[in-house]
Amino acid sequence: MAREWWRDAVFYEIYVRSFADSDGDGVGDLPGITARLPYLHDLAVDAIWLTPFYPSPGVDHGYDVSDYVDVDPMFGTLDEFDALVATAHGLCMRVIVDIVPNHTSDRHPWFTGDRSRYVTVPAANGVPNNWPSNWGGSAWTLDEERGHYYLHLFAPQQPDLDWHRSAVRSDFEDILRFWLDRGVDGFRIDVAHGLVKDATLADEPEPFPAVRLSSDWRRAIDQPEVHDVYRDWHRLAAAYPGDRVLVGEVVFSDPRRVAPYLRPDELHLAFNFSLVFQPWDAQAIGGSIDASLAALPVVTWVLENHDVERIATRFGPREARAAALLLLALPGPVFLYQGQELGLPEVDLPDAARQDPIFNRTHGERVGRDGCRVPLPWVRELPARSWLPQPPGWGELSVESQSTDETSMLSLYRQALALRPRGSFRWRDAPGGVLAFDRDGLTCVVNVSGDDVPVGEVVLASEEIHATLPAGAAAWVRP
Ligand code: NOJ
Repeated sequence: MAREWWRDAVFYEIYVRSFADSDGDGVGDLPGITARLPYLHDLAVDAIWLTPFYPSPGVDHGYDVSDYVDVDPMFGTLDEFDALVATAHGLCMRVIVDIVPNHTSDRHPWFTGDRSRYVTVPAANGVPNNWPSNWGGSAWTLDEERGHYYLHLFAPQQPDLDWHRSAVRSDFEDILRFWLDRGVDGFRIDVAHGLVKDATLADEPEPFPAVRLSSDWRRAIDQPEVHDVYRDWHRLAAAYPGDRVLVGEVVFSDPRRVAPYLRPDELHLAFNFSLVFQPWDAQAIGGSIDASLAALPVVTWVLENHDVERIATRFGPREARAAALLLLALPGPVFLYQGQELGLPEVDLPDAARQDPIFNRTHGERVGRDGCRVPLPWVRELPARSWLPQPPGWGELSVESQSTDETSMLSLYRQALALRPRGSFRWRDAPGGVLAFDRDGLTCVVNVSGDDVPVGEVVLASEEIHATLPAGAAAWVRP
């Protein structure tokens, strides 16, 4: 059997609202994406992942779906979706779409209707348990009219489905088939570890750790039955030609907890967020790479997505360039987030402009994720409308500005993607603060915080270097 396409693929996440706006309303759309596919093809991207573009009230910008088998008119039509897929395939790029099975919008007919598919508990005995919402407050909302509490691990407008119910399972299989029949190459599965909840609704031990990811300590999720769902989905996807891929958003800090989702008959890939949680520190990064490689059968690499602070801000602009060379030298699939290739920083938006429900639900205590979702700057002259304001200087970071600048982040990504090494991975001895490893024919040296290191024949460097690599820089060199 030929090696599946996704094993070394570069995936590019398109946050649909913020990628490319074809009609000037300030919000990205499907025709905008189609028009920009040649840009992604030139970048040497293998597959795009589209964030939810389904009809949605937009409380969580598409992660609150009110119809799983259509396109929100704000983004286009089903015909425009088909045109996007056909154009991508014509350019030899795969298309995966986001599926949001943990919860729906509260406007979904299943919820405005009889609610038999949701986790609800009669109101008589008070709040069912102590479960918190990930975004502040209780995970239960009382619906007085209906006489029950309903569960929502996210916003109250995102009621959680009850995956113990067979109707939910068969409905989602129909939804997957709908998109597979339209030619999608796979799915990114939102909150993949969370679908099935502890049916006893037992309390979580308190106090809830404030500093750790809720999925690391919640006992109510990551239930054994969730694996049956993915075994069914695996079989379903395998019935289609072309190695359709299931990518789970399985969020644990410890990759060992992700591993069971990647058993041979379950998901093909899962995001490995280990690097997202690391500071710019050689030991931490090296340890996280080792732990990932040891725990997972296929390791994906992620530094950015639409939920986390941009690396140019997290690590610093020079370090973000070095991190790009680290990322693209690691073995296995890589996920890039739109704008990462432009080195976009996190935008410090005024409170009044912020739209993320995290900001509102925590009364500003957590700023939320709008700062990494500001629409991409394509050209120097910024558009008249933009759903999140583009800051001054954004045009200088545009594709237009960077395309002709050989020293730009975009040029670095273009070169790195073209030269991306393959083959086995092997660490090299390196001085403190430095990471170095071999792939076939190339050594990747990242000087995170060490003394200057001498390097030999440089193939690509994160900045201009003169015989030695300073802290905060990286290079691919001939071994
Ligand atoms: C994970 C998604 O990436 C995030 O944007 C969303 O808010 C939550 N899941 C809830 O759907």
